[in-house]
Amino acid sequence: MSQNSVKIQIENLYKIFGSNQEEAFSLIEKGKTRDEIQKQNGALTALRNISFDVKEKEIFVIMGLSGSGKSTLLRCINRLQEPTKGIIKVNNEDITCLNEERLRKIRRTIMGMVFQSFALFPHMSVLKNVIFGLEIRKNMDKDERLKKGEEVLKIVGLDQWKNKKVDELSGGMKQRVGLARALAIDPEILLMDEPFSALDPLIRTNLQNELLSLQEKMGKTILFVTHDLNEAIKLGDRIAILNSEGELVQIDTPENILLNPADEYVKTFISDVDRPAVIRLENVMNQVSFEADIKDSVDEVFAKMKKNNAQTVFVTDKGLYRGIVTQNTLSKADKETIADLIVYVKPGYYLASIKDILPNIITKTYPLPVVDKENYLIGEIRDKSVADILKQNI
Ligand SMILES: Nc1ncnc2c1ncn2[C@@H]1O[C@H](COP(=O)(O)OP(=O)(O)OP(=O)(O)O)[C@@H](O)[C@H]1O
Ligand SMILES: [Mg+2]
Repeated sequence: MSQNSVKIQIENLYKIFGSNQEEAFSLIEKGKTRDEIQKQNGALTALRNISFDVKEKEIFVIMGLSGSGKSTLLRCINRLQEPTKGIIKVNNEDITCLNEERLRKIRRTIMGMVFQSFALFPHMSVLKNVIFGLEIRKNMDKDERLKKGEEVLKIVGLDQWKNKKVDELSGGMKQRVGLARALAIDPEILLMDEPFSALDPLIRTNLQNELLSLQEKMGKTILFVTHDLNEAIKLGDRIAILNSEGELVQIDTPENILLNPADEYVKTFISDVDRPAVIRLENVMNQVSFEADIKDSVDEVFAKMKKNNAQTVFVTDKGLYRGIVTQNTLSKADKETIADLIVYVKPGYYLASIKDILPNIITKTYPLPVVDKENYLIGEIRDKSVADILKQNI
């Protein structure tokens, strides 16, 4: 992800609702809380000093409790809300000072938004709803618009429903129409505000999976708001957490948020997450402490093991993982090299979760070898690191 260029850049963004903004700022500087400021002068400090970048093709999740400012943040990015202070750049263009015309153009071409409340026209057909955003564009004739509408309805699996009224659809289907409408303008950026929150768990899981597989094909830059950490972990390349003061307290990969929560607020958020299912081997593996080459002599390896007090050693061939040999085997061996004495032990794939490999390690007395997709030995998992994670889960 890191090699991709920056798509959205936010610097020191503030959003204050209500009048007396100057006074509100000076109260913020004095370290007053949202509640204190509201009591004192009526202004609501929804967002405080927000800075982050979103990279091209990234799914960036914004998370926080109700009222933390998630929707406000998303709406500042397409200026459905006017930022009070700060810089918001989209494709390196500062959008906080654009005129109405340029802003409309950007909303119509670069940024698509999917709302929690669907925001559809209930009496219009599915297809009409989907191509609504295209009608104001002058560069597409009617046939082209209809073709585009049908194309995106196929993507979200609703092509059979194009002539139904939106009113006749279930909640999950309405949400798909909302997504199709955002996709119809073929935006570079999708802003999604709790799009799946109103849906029951099964439909929700399905749509999450569909979004992920769509994203593989489309490669959009997605800002996704949710208050559900499991959803955030599943979808997010990175997650930003807003606290109840409208401040960002942590921006990190899902794994790092679980392994190193920034403060108590984040800790309470992650307390009921199934950590072993989320944390991957690459996040907790250690450097290989001890390995031998397949061409090494028995005597040499045996001596090394004695010296290191190791009962087993990983064997590699030009870095590729081959298996292990034990001190016990070597002590009785009548061979020159260790090549014929190797026992193949199934390694863990670096992207597998701790949960995936639990059965492989529970009965073993040696660390689990970790390999990359070409089967190079890149690390090892010791019982202790796994035990620590399991302990935190209890
Ligand atoms: N138009 C507005 N005028 C005044 N205050 C507002 C306005 N919109 C939002 N707020 C306030 O700003 C704060 C952040 O609201 P926001 O809707 O961004 O929260 P949220 O994190 O999206 O919450 P939820 O999870 O409930 O959707 C809240 O205290 C809210 O009352
Ligand atoms: Mg909201």
